[in-house]
Amino acid sequence: MCILESDRLILRPPRPSDIPAMTVWLSDYDVAKMTARVPHPYDEEDAEDFIAGIGAVDRHVFAIQRKADGLFMGCTGLARDGDFELGYWLGKPFWGMGYATEAARRLIGFAFEMLDQSQVTAGWYHDNPASGHVLAKLGARHNGSKMRDCAARGRAVLCHDMLLTRADFLRKQAA
Ligand SMILES: CC(C)(COP(=O)(O)OP(=O)(O)OC[C@H]1O[C@@H](n2cnc3c(N)ncnc32)[C@H](O)[C@@H]1OP(=O)(O)O)[C@@H](O)C(=O)NCCC(=O)NCCS
Repeated sequence: MCILESDRLILRPPRPSDIPAMTVWLSDYDVAKMTARVPHPYDEEDAEDFIAGIGAVDRHVFAIQRKADGLFMGCTGLARDGDFELGYWLGKPFWGMGYATEAARRLIGFAFEMLDQSQVTAGWYHDNPASGHVLAKLGARHNGSKMRDCAARGRAVLCHDMLLTRADFLRKQAA
């Protein structure tokens, strides 16, 4: 499993020592409700199960660790669903500092360079404009909307599907 680096971040495989922090950050309903699969309430067993399942084929999951102090802040990953789908979350104390954009940008670079993808997908719930903005900053375009299950809310929520091509990503980086 590889380790990726950006200016302020290290993206590395999640490990059991991340479980306590992961549990704290994902117990926050405001974080869980914006993801499709994180349940609420969330406990250490959920984090253990998540880490135990990471080795699955066609998934690339990374912990987002801050270089400055080594803190585990969240996760980002790519999961195969036809194309690879990008996902990410950060603990609330780390919102609003550009970390999600920086982590996602590095992971998308990995998808295009190392996994030889020509496009990746992502989705954001209609009430999560911050994530929509992250994806737009990367160069992703709206590609339809549909209802998608949300484990924490226990119901389907309107989700905007996004498509990010290699060409759009490179154009955005160069701008
Ligand atoms: C979505 C999330 C990952 C964003 O992380 P982040 O590190 O704060 O994101 P960034 O700082 O890189 O970028 C957020 C951008 O959205 C903008 N933004 C924040 N709140 C916004 C809002 N309500 N409306 C529009 N834009 C908003 C920010 O200004 C920023 O843009 P800027 O850099 O141009 O100023 C984080 O809020 C999170 O983990 N949320 C819970 C889980 C989640 O939503 N995961 C994604 C599922 S698709």
